[in-house]
Amino acid sequence: MKTLFAHRGMSSLAPENTLSAFALTPKHGLNWIECDVDVLADGTVVISHDDSLDRCTDRPGSLYDLTVDDLADIDAGSWFSDDYIGEPIPTFDQFIDLVNVHKLNVNVEIKSCTAGWAHTERLLDGVVEGLTRLHKDRDLLVSSFNPLALAEFKRRCPDIAVACLFSKEALEDDWLSIMQACQADTIHVEDEGLTKEKVIEMKGQGFTVNVYTVNQLGRANQLFNWGVDGVFTDVGHTFPSRYRNG
Ligand code: G3P
Ligand code: MG
Repeated sequence: MKTLFAHRGMSSLAPENTLSAFALTPKHGLNWIECDVDVLADGTVVISHDDSLDRCTDRPGSLYDLTVDDLADIDAGSWFSDDYIGEPIPTFDQFIDLVNVHKLNVNVEIKSCTAGWAHTERLLDGVVEGLTRLHKDRDLLVSSFNPLALAEFKRRCPDIAVACLFSKEALEDDWLSIMQACQADTIHVEDEGLTKEKVIEMKGQGFTVNVYTVNQLGRANQLFNWGVDGVFTDVGHTFPSRYRNG
């Protein structure tokens, strides 16, 4: 069975990385979601791809200047559609509650926190703490583009599966040693420029291979025929039923 990850939730149907986008996922037969996490000034972990509010909320500014009390006044939905006016930026705790209720499996992507290592450690603290509330019957995969952050997470949580993320530019000859240093058994690679030979090489090393972000059915099919195990997609609802659970 190939895995479809709802990338930032059902992010073409609802504003990305919001509770509404995640809650839509089971309705479309997907049981894996991907989310991005970063941390506010007070240590609150939130679901957000960007470290800035500019692209996906009704105001500009940095996440790193906010505290949890600020979240009530920030609208992360009205930029997307009138149906989502007032949609908040979720906290990680709210996200975990939703995952438990909907019985979803989750890939938590730890953002490469741009505010420095001390802030990154607070992000890791919050993620580790938040994940203790995830029901034990949920599948969990933690990933990051930052191998130092991921290795530190794995040091703290050796029993949780981790995946190294590689952009096209970062996928260089040292990818295998980075994977091994992080004790990762799954690799998340960018779709653009990915070749059959590279997929075969990664599979030959025994890794689970997931590819981001794949929104064309033909490309997904090609990747699956090369041996790819899963794709991250914004349009899971358009995939044929053979990839979905109902
Ligand atoms: O985790 C897969 C994918 O989400 C990585 O890229 O930039 O969408 O977080 P990005
Ligand atoms: Mg992501």
